[in-house]
Amino acid sequence: MPPSPPPPPSPDLAALWPEEGLVPPPRRLAERAHVPDRAALAAFRAEDFPRPFAALADLLVWTTPWRTLFDDTRPPFWRWYEGGTLNACTNALDRHLPAARDRIAYHWIPEAESESPRSLTYGELLERVETLAAVLRDDFGIGPGDRVTIHLPMSLDLPVAMLACARLGAIHSVVFSGFSARACAERILDSGSRLLLTADVYRRGGAVLDHKAKADATHALVTEGGGRLEAVLVFTRDPDRYASPTPLHPGRDRLAAPLLAHRRGARIPPVPRASNDGLFLMYSSGTTGKPKGCLHGHGGYLAWVAATCRWVLDLHPGDVYWCMADIGWITGHSYIVYGPLLSGVTSLLTEGVPYDPDPGRPWCLARRYGVRVFHTSPTALRALRRLAPEGPGADRPPFDILVTVGEPIEPHVWRWYHETVGGGRAAVVDTWWQTETGGHILATLPAADPMRPGSAGPPLPGLEVAVLDEEGHPLPPGAERAGTLVVRTPWPGLMLGLWGDDERYVRTYFGRFNRDPRSRDWRDWPYCPSDGARIDARGYVRILGRIDDVINSSGHRLGSKEIESAALEVPWVAEAAVVPIPDELRGQAVGLFVAPGPGVPDDPTAARAEVARAVVERIGPIARPHQVWIVPDMPKTRSGKIMRRVLAALVAGRDPGDVATLANPEVVVALAGIVAAEKPAPPREPGAQTPGPGGGGGPTPGDGGAGGGARGGERAAGGDGEGQAIS
Ligand code: WTA
Repeated sequence: MPPSPPPPPSPDLAALWPEEGLVPPPRRLAERAHVPDRAALAAFRAEDFPRPFAALADLLVWTTPWRTLFDDTRPPFWRWYEGGTLNACTNALDRHLPAARDRIAYHWIPEAESESPRSLTYGELLERVETLAAVLRDDFGIGPGDRVTIHLPMSLDLPVAMLACARLGAIHSVVFSGFSARACAERILDSGSRLLLTADVYRRGGAVLDHKAKADATHALVTEGGGRLEAVLVFTRDPDRYASPTPLHPGRDRLAAPLLAHRRGARIPPVPRASNDGLFLMYSSGTTGKPKGCLHGHGGYLAWVAATCRWVLDLHPGDVYWCMADIGWITGHSYIVYGPLLSGVTSLLTEGVPYDPDPGRPWCLARRYGVRVFHTSPTALRALRRLAPEGPGADRPPFDILVTVGEPIEPHVWRWYHETVGGGRAAVVDTWWQTETGGHILATLPAADPMRPGSAGPPLPGLEVAVLDEEGHPLPPGAERAGTLVVRTPWPGLMLGLWGDDERYVRTYFGRFNRDPRSRDWRDWPYCPSDGARIDARGYVRILGRIDDVINSSGHRLGSKEIESAALEVPWVAEAAVVPIPDELRGQAVGLFVAPGPGVPDDPTAARAEVARAVVERIGPIARPHQVWIVPDMPKTRSGKIMRRVLAALVAGRDPGDVATLANPEVVVALAGIVAAEKPAPPREPGAQTPGPGGGGGPTPGDGGAGGGARGGERAAGGDGEGQAIS
């Protein structure tokens, strides 16, 4: 396995935050919390690995009980609850029906306040799931193990579609609705799915966007790429009204409504799946250009999200819960769909950006529905704080737990969340995890643990983490130095692998610190998430940001290489380099340097726009460069490698350090001049342009996503070939 390079010094401001004091957890929560104190989970000792995790399987209903708790036959492809079979849809829905058929599962809140919300009970949700499962099975021949790509916005059809796949044992691959046709086509080609579920239109930031146009472009690109998309199933946002100006393609496109009407009332038995069969694919940005298809399974994944919904979110049956993320990201999969349904709660599902144009609306909605547990991203909180610093005011929603995810939260934003939003009565829970980890890894337990602003906290019970130096030695808790975070113990929520690429799975996540690739001992395989971190004397971990070429914008992971290859598709672009721009609202925004070859347009504004358009067209508005600099040359090492570190320092206004070893040190002065002359524009006001929450936990204006991270800029898309506004 090739050794990975040592991490570059972290450019993130989080490294400079002063150490904050501990804030005690609200005492009143202990009365009804699943975990009133750490003693309640004393059995989860890392020393006893893997035995304590057996108890988590009891949170699920199994068709056949498991036989082997932890199968380590093929490291590091750990397998949990081997021998067991179960169905994810049964666990999410059927099991609740005897007691809670009429409990609301989802309140869907349309973006326009003039439109009425729609609600579905657990019983109605199951009916819709079975009807769609009948259509998928009997009209499209979908069965166990088939991949189905779902490119749907935040509508009730999205969880219905995921659960219908799960019921049939098919593997769903949800593509965030703000992603471009190219991004969607790439995921279809990689997963080999032959059916695409899409929608006519959806609303975001006050506009109605034509989504069907993207499906047509996706189909063309899949065909061009040698794939075969047999059918496109089109859902309409409003019942019985096809609202897209893009016509249906006869023979290929099928409207969902008549097919569903025909199958209404069908009863489809759930197909039991082996614990380690695939449940879904979720693609995630990585160091190289190609997104990685993270494959999650049934038993381990569901056990971990069920456990973390109890431990971290403290969800009880019937609780009202709102996660502002988009289901198109992992946060939405684990903590809008599977976890909350396994827990039997009532969730809000919000279309578009709930705080655009009225930043007080989230608090009104939370009050109206009685939200006890609220979940969003630092990016959304920064926007809300800026637009309406007074927060919900004295008439506060009944918040007990305020969750954040996706990026480091600045201590002053943390305090605003705690004091102004929660009135000092609610626990703030900063959760660190990833698409790959399935569920939370670092978090404080809301009733049991003191909180530290700016720090994600300790590992969950049963897990052991460490921060390692370049040689792989653990830094002692309280060390001033930063290092690389690793999770030393395996856990049930970890993905099964990367779709079709075992070698990349091992190299990316375990290659860095594994010394013996033949070892069968899990202790030799620490999981490496590629985040820089510091660990304090109490064992709380502060995340400093990525150590690979990933930019975290509004909690969305964007691969630098992916953006660079998009820019290089512009014929006159000879070289491209992406760097993060520190951004008050998004955490980081995308900065793009390009060196032109022959044919560059005379008008620099047009040239910059052309590059930005190529990126949006290739990936989607969430990756739209905030600034494009056209430069005569890139700073390079003698071997010709572009030194992004130097560019990043110039953009962040830091000293680029010693540049004497560069092949062309003189270029740095010229670049500094260009960067100084073309300062990035101040971030757009949320709502002014393109609202959208992120992959982490909340919608961000201008990004096109809402629930688990950050995306930005979706609405600005008109003319970019991305979700054209039609009204
Ligand atoms: C970052 C989102 C600081 C981190 C659930 C991680 C965080 C990446 C936090 C995963 C947090 C996530 N504090 N940084 N609480 N949570 N991150 O796969 O860099 O979209 O590696 O999963 O987001 O992003 P992903």
